Amino acid sequence: MQFNGKKGLVLGVANDHSIAWAIAKQIMEAGGECGFTHLPDREDDERQRNRRRVSQLTDKYENAKFLIPMDAQKDDDIQRVFDHTAEQFGKIDFLLHSIAFADRNDLSRETVFTSRDGFKLAMDVSVYTLIACTAAAKPIMNPGGAIATMTYFGGEKCVPGYNVMGICKAALEATVRYLAYDMGPQGVRVNALSAGPIRTLAGRAAGVEEMLTLYEHMAPLGRNVSHDEVGRTGAFLLGDNSEGISGEILHVDGGYHAMGSPGRLLDKLQTK
Ligand SMILES: NC(=O)c1ccc[n+]([C@@H]2O[C@H](COP(=O)([O-])OP(=O)(O)OC[C@H]3O[C@@H](n4cnc5c(N)ncnc54)[C@H](O)[C@@H]3O)[C@@H](O)[C@H]2O)c1
Repeated sequence: MQFNGKKGLVLGVANDHSIAWAIAKQIMEAGGECGFTHLPDREDDERQRNRRRVSQLTDKYENAKFLIPMDAQKDDDIQRVFDHTAEQFGKIDFLLHSIAFADRNDLSRETVFTSRDGFKLAMDVSVYTLIACTAAAKPIMNPGGAIATMTYFGGEKCVPGYNVMGICKAALEATVRYLAYDMGPQGVRVNALSAGPIRTLAGRAAGVEEMLTLYEHMAPLGRNVSHDEVGRTGAFLLGDNSEGISGEILHVDGGYHAMGSPGRLLDKLQTK
């Protein structure tokens, strides 16, 4: 994988477990330069914990060129980030959107009882921000550039427990297809990586632990996927090797999505 001479923006690193960090590491190790954002710290947090968790990572990489706060729910923040990116980089070649959020109360209650405010919040952060960031990136994306977002199988099929976030991922995947159409004439591709369960902050909130066990037994590969595997495929989608791919939902889940029955898990249940 080659990223020499390529520059881009990485949205969604919270800590060293973040999928965005796994992808950014692959890009920087292949020669790419990245700008990063972090969730703004509260004014009364003198220790700037959000910033510190990310700067501890980016400080170690020469190719991490800047780190600035962004709340993706705020249009002014988004504009400021893309203005800064244009000042630092001129044009960019890739944009990674790895952002999602839903209120824990809404994730834990049955979908039928999702609150109106919780629905709006989850859709705004987890779906609309891809549209807003793509619009802000449009004037500064080089032809041949790529945008990628992160999704999960719960957007395709009902995965109990994933609830309102599953609805968001379905909308996100549709958004990818429409944005791929809009950005195509500019030579920019838009894709999503559908990852199997990974231990992260967001993953924990979405019930990743039970899923890890299920995938181990049901996925054709008989195991879970690693941060590095997701990182390499994310970098692939953002680099030249995927030049003919757009509007795609690419699964990195050990093949779990391809199963129509519990497979070897069923064998296990029957022998008990
Ligand atoms: N962990 C998994 O099992 C898994 C599987 C498939 C897809 N995903 C998706 O991957 C993406 C990244 O999640 P992760 O698992 O790396 O967890 P994570 O918690 O490390 O990343 C989520 C990121 O979203 C950011 N974010 C939330 N609200 C924001 C806002 N208003 N403005 C800006 N940023 C905001 C957080 O700061 C964080 O960096 C998400 O879209 C998630 O749904 C995760």
